[in-house]
Amino acid sequence: PLQLTLALIKPEAVAHPVISEAVHQKILENNFLILRRKELHWRSTDSQRFYCEHTGRFFYQRLVEFMSSGPMQAYILAHEDAIQLWRNVMGPTKVFRARIVAPGTVRGDLGLTDTRNTTHGSDSVESAHREITFFFPEFNTSNWYEKQ
Ligand code: CMP
Repeated sequence: PLQLTLALIKPEAVAHPVISEAVHQKILENNFLILRRKELHWRSTDSQRFYCEHTGRFFYQRLVEFMSSGPMQAYILAHEDAIQLWRNVMGPTKVFRARIVAPGTVRGDLGLTDTRNTTHGSDSVESAHREITFFFPEFNTSNWYEKQ
């Protein structure tokens, strides 16, 4: 069965079309279905709301500012086991770890820092649902599954 996940191409990658295009190619190479795609520029309040679970972490302020610093791209992706597959394609969150243990992944090859790490992906079925609704409120996930 197909599963859905939310993927983001973060502002530092969107600012460099060669980088965002390389990420887009990774999505295609891995045979994800792209159900929705849009470019948008967050206000810092959107960033705070999306990352509320990280409130108080040492990187929170940096993350919030960075994510509202320029346009990003949001995708709804579908694939069997999409959440884990996209996380594998991205590689580890921390770029300096990713470079060593996961060359060939998006973050291992293209990430700049632990904050500017190219992409985001949902980490569970619940967060995928929350994040898809956050970016695409008109997209009805249960309706989509029923129609398949
Ligand atoms: P993301 O998958 O978007 O989820 C939370 C983000 O916080 C993460 O990717 C990074 O961009 C950012 N971040 C910055 N520093 C850290 C850190 N030390 N640990 C985890 N996430 C971090």
